[in-house]
Amino acid sequence: MTDRYAVIGHPISHSKSPEIHKLFAEQTGEDISYVAIEAPLDGFRETIERLRREGYKGCNVTVPFKFQAFEISGQRSERAKTAQAVNTLKFDGGIFGDNTDGAGLVRDIEKNLGVRLQGKRVLLMGAGGASYGAALPLLQTHCLLTVANRTVEKAIRLASAFDGVVPSNYADLRGQQFDVIINATSSGLADEMPDLPEALFAEGALAYDMMYGRETPFMSFARASGARVADGLGMLVEQAAEAFFIWRGTRPDTLPVIEKLRK
Ligand code: ATR
Repeated sequence: MTDRYAVIGHPISHSKSPEIHKLFAEQTGEDISYVAIEAPLDGFRETIERLRREGYKGCNVTVPFKFQAFEISGQRSERAKTAQAVNTLKFDGGIFGDNTDGAGLVRDIEKNLGVRLQGKRVLLMGAGGASYGAALPLLQTHCLLTVANRTVEKAIRLASAFDGVVPSNYADLRGQQFDVIINATSSGLADEMPDLPEALFAEGALAYDMMYGRETPFMSFARASGARVADGLGMLVEQAAEAFFIWRGTRPDTLPVIEKLRK
């Protein structure tokens, strides 16, 4: 029998996850279905309970429900605990919650973009949920991690939760250089970018924006500064592959899927 999965969010119509998991299923021969479900803003728990009753095996969770997904998880992975957010649920009698976002980011940078992070000076911009999800997987690469935020108190709070993170505001970055700069802020949605000082990009630096499907001001700025630029489409596919692995125990080949979505 076909095992059923879904992605739950609000809004959800834009989600590429059903297409990604369909491609994974075709490639691996796994017999699954995967649909997008919009839960009412006050109806996340009820939606999850309905899916479990109907026999779904798991789901992905996206904005704005990742914290609620964390709360309803009876069992949580280490990376879900540090992120305080869950994007992947597995229903196995109980509810297991994991967070594959940060692992997806690191895999995209290291495997797909070929940038080994160990020893690299990495700047993570933003101190919201996206940065909490990325911090532990980034630290595990043994990079040197600075987290900068407009509201510096939030960067300081994040740094106090993770050994080895250096917090900063944007102005104090002046005079430093980074090998990888990651935009985990939501500024691109408003066609804005963090107020970065000049000359932050080291020679051959990578500028990574977690957004995809649009050229953000940060990406244009990085391009003009001579950096190599990547958007978040690869991260999206990699976090999905990691979820697929949690559910199915097999890891799809992501490159053909990323290429197909780019077209
Ligand atoms: P998410 O869960 O997507 O990370 P969030 O928790 O609302 O969303 O966090 C948004 C992040 O983007 C914050 O770090 C925010 O900075 P502040 O904490 O100072 O608000 C950052 N952000 C949003 N718009 C920004 C802008 N125009 N310039 C700089 N940072 C911005």
